[in-house]
Amino acid sequence: MILLDGKALAAEIHQELRAEVARLGQRGIRPHIALLLVGDNPASLSYVRSKSRACEHVGIRSTVLHLPAETTHEEVLGIVQRWNADPDIHGILVQLPLPPHVNADDILQTIDPQKDVDGFHPVNVGRLVLGLPTLVPCTPAGIVELLRRYRQSVRGKHVVVVGRSNIVGKPIANLLVQKAEWADAVVTICHSAAADLRALTRNADVLIVAIGRAGFITGDDVRDGAVVVDVGINRIEDPSSPKGYRIVGDVEWASVAPKASAITPVPGGVGPMTIAMLLRNTVIAAEGNAWQKPLFQ
Ligand code: GUN
Repeated sequence: MILLDGKALAAEIHQELRAEVARLGQRGIRPHIALLLVGDNPASLSYVRSKSRACEHVGIRSTVLHLPAETTHEEVLGIVQRWNADPDIHGILVQLPLPPHVNADDILQTIDPQKDVDGFHPVNVGRLVLGLPTLVPCTPAGIVELLRRYRQSVRGKHVVVVGRSNIVGKPIANLLVQKAEWADAVVTICHSAAADLRALTRNADVLIVAIGRAGFITGDDVRDGAVVVDVGINRIEDPSSPKGYRIVGDVEWASVAPKASAITPVPGGVGPMTIAMLLRNTVIAAEGNAWQKPLFQ
């Protein structure tokens, strides 16, 4: 069984990006990302801190604005508009979820698409579906990069995606059906409403799970020799851990790992790759290449 070590790969990518950032520095450009966090969701707080720390680690400037949960929709909109107009800011990230009184769709549609390092703006979603150069959402981009660097080709294979979110399920499916050397898969998207989910997942050569439920996929759901990509990051109570919780994926490791030919661990699989791709998108945006750079080279 091959362990798809996202943490190690992300460290390699950080090195590559550090060199790229140094080259940009010689042209007088310092990539700069602005991150907005509204409210005190503990997971979001932790993600934003990790993202900001990783940026600084490769020489990308990061500005974090942390606002109270009561911040109004208009205030959030105003901040995004200010960042859009600031030539010193190359990338904008609004951490989701936003509080219910803030219309997330409206906010995401306000971000300048060429600064949209999450790739969530409808224009960038459309460009991705059409196979045009764009800023690719970070988790899907991280999955493609992880599979490529471990030489796990999806070409001609049946990829089953469990989960249909705009952040992971839909964009990864749209990437992997592209006509391209790094894609060319046959893709099924399934979700919680499937009449017989197990019949679908057992058909997967490559199973990508992003449903957000701890241990949702077990050994009985997986074909022998499948490649398994676990996107889940779930906190479960664990009194024996110093923090009182631990992080587990959407895949039950004990029953699935022995059947898989390759599998991502949680933590240390897809998560670090997501952050590495955010850094890459920020560098691409700073180079002015948001709509120039081919999806994958
Ligand atoms: N919340 C969960 N995942 C993400 C992500 O990739 N980007 C943002 N902005 N928020 C998220």
